[in-house]
Amino acid sequence: SDLAIVLGTRPEIIKLSPVIHECEQRDISYTVIHTGQHYSDNLDSVFFEQLELPTPEYNLGVGSDSHGAQTGEMLAGIEEILLEENPDTVLVQGDTNSVLAGAIATSKLDMELGHVEAGLRSFDREMPEETNRVVTDHMADYLFAPTEQSKEYLLEEGIPADRITVTGNTVVDALHRNRKLAERKSSVLDDLGLEAGEFFLMTAHRAENVDDESRFRGLLSGVSTAAAQHGVDVVYPIHPRAEANLDAFDLSVPHNVRLVEAQEYLDFLQLESAARLILTDSGGVQEEACIVGVPCVTMRDNTERPETVSVGANRLCGVEPSAITASVDFMTETDNTWENPFGDGTAGQTIIREAATVRAKVPR
Ligand code: UD1
Ligand code: UDP
Repeated sequence: SDLAIVLGTRPEIIKLSPVIHECEQRDISYTVIHTGQHYSDNLDSVFFEQLELPTPEYNLGVGSDSHGAQTGEMLAGIEEILLEENPDTVLVQGDTNSVLAGAIATSKLDMELGHVEAGLRSFDREMPEETNRVVTDHMADYLFAPTEQSKEYLLEEGIPADRITVTGNTVVDALHRNRKLAERKSSVLDDLGLEAGEFFLMTAHRAENVDDESRFRGLLSGVSTAAAQHGVDVVYPIHPRAEANLDAFDLSVPHNVRLVEAQEYLDFLQLESAARLILTDSGGVQEEACIVGVPCVTMRDNTERPETVSVGANRLCGVEPSAITASVDFMTETDNTWENPFGDGTAGQTIIREAATVRAKVPR
């Protein structure tokens, strides 16, 4: 094939779906290599179904392990497939271990590497994702930056301007394609007995929050207090990493925080659109809240999505209960009229067009 697309986790399946649809649309020959980093149905196959994506040609089935073991196994597996498929170009998206493995494998072979969602920076090297982003950006032959801000970060690190294209974020493409569908098809509000505008939605799965007992405890207590003060319940679709740690730390979840299964994409979009406010530590959820016009409170000390904060859609608060309640108070008072900074939903088209142009220019 001309193109190989490496993915492995829930957000990569969602954010690469517009790129895959564009390949289908234009009849570009492509191969999808799934690392198997995510494998539970509700983080994986359900997204292929709902986003109408073909089953990947390859699935390495790597599963969960320590960073080194997981990344190493992916690296060896991806290399083998790339040698066999011999694509001109390999695309990776985001900042997971699957991205790092795909990037290293490609950079040692005679193939071009494209990084979708390039140039995000939290400037926090304690986060595994930050290492993955920085390393991948510096290996990439072309970088698809979602915003002017992300392009700026790349230029500041000395990456040549002619490798960078500002494309918007493919999260917008996916949202535009599915939001109306979600409104029509999802019965999640009825199923959970929720009224639009009468609940908070929360997600928390990031290692630095849920692997740390006192941070996880603070976060749950802050969210619960904030919701009680605003007279609403919180819906918390739980990620398996967080679920495992609730057990391991024997944490009791406050009565007004309703744990539910990790949600399918359409149901989750419906929950986001109908929430009064969203509390999260997820990257993609910060973006989606901003795009659907629901105020967001981010339970982290930094964000690689500063655009959401500067347009007034998001506020950082860390995990101290008093900081969470103060930020929730502040964000429930905002008027939700900010501009979406992530583009017009044509990122997938731009990426595939650029990838073809660059390919034509590269002597091989
Ligand atoms: C990974 C990414 C993170 C991203 C998140 C998206 C890295 C370093 N982290 O974190 O950046 O935000 O995906 O959701 O790449 N598990 C299951 N079923 C699965 C997958 C995982 O039960 O299908 C459980 C296992 O107990 C596993 C744990 O979740 O140990 C963590 O999985 P892992 O893929 O290592 O990291 P995530 O927390 O999912
Ligand atoms: N998401 C979902 N169901 C859920 C939680 C999240 O479909 O229960 C989607 C959400 O719409 C977003 C993406 O998953 O597009 C975010 O993934 P996640 O928070 O796992 O990873 P991050 O973006 O932080 O890397």
